[in-house]
Amino acid sequence: MNPVDYQEMVRPFLSERRLHHSECVAKMARHLAERYAADPEKAFCAGMLHDVLKEQPKEEQLKMMDEFGIILTDEERSAPKLWHAVLGAAYLERRGGISDREILNAIRYHTTARADMSLLEKVLFVADFISDDREFEGVEELREAAEESLEKAVLLGCAMTVQDLAENHLTIHPDTIAAYNWSVLHAQ
Ligand SMILES: [Fe+2]
Ligand SMILES: [Fe+2]
Repeated sequence: MNPVDYQEMVRPFLSERRLHHSECVAKMARHLAERYAADPEKAFCAGMLHDVLKEQPKEEQLKMMDEFGIILTDEERSAPKLWHAVLGAAYLERRGGISDREILNAIRYHTTARADMSLLEKVLFVADFISDDREFEGVEELREAAEESLEKAVLLGCAMTVQDLAENHLTIHPDTIAAYNWSVLHAQ
C-alpha cells in the first residue's frame, strides 16, 4: 500500500480535525524515523493509522473489543482514552490487512507506552506528542528533546502523562509506569 491508500483507509472513520492530526503524526513519525534510523515508510504508515478508531462511540468500541476477544483490565476499563490503541491494532490486523508486527505494536502502545519499546514504538509515541498540530504547555521542550534524543523525549512524554493522570486522580496504566521507570533508567 502507498501513503495515499493509508489515508483513504482511515478517512471514513475520522473527522477532518483527526485526519489532519493523523497526517501530522505520520509526517513527524517519518521525520523521526529518518533522524533515528528507523524505517520511514513504516513510521509514516503507523502515524497515518494510529488513531483509526479513536472517534468511534464508546459502545461501538466495547462491542468490537468483545468481537475480537479483547478483555480489559480494571485500569483499562476505567480509561476509555486507551481503548482505541489496543482496539485499533486488533482491527487493523484482522480487518485492515496490516500484518507487520512492528507497525501493529507501535499502534498498540502509542497511548500507554511500555518498558523497552522498539525503535518504531518510540518514534510513534513521540510523534503523537509533538506533531505540528499539537499545542500544549511543554510541547516545545518535548520538540527540542526529540531532536536531541528519542529516549529523552520518551522519558519526558511519560513523565508528563504520569503527572497529568496523577493530578487528575486518574488510573495510570501499569505499562505507562513501566515505561516511565524504564526511561528513567535508560535515558541519557
Ligand atoms: Fe491515539
Ligand atoms: Fe494521536
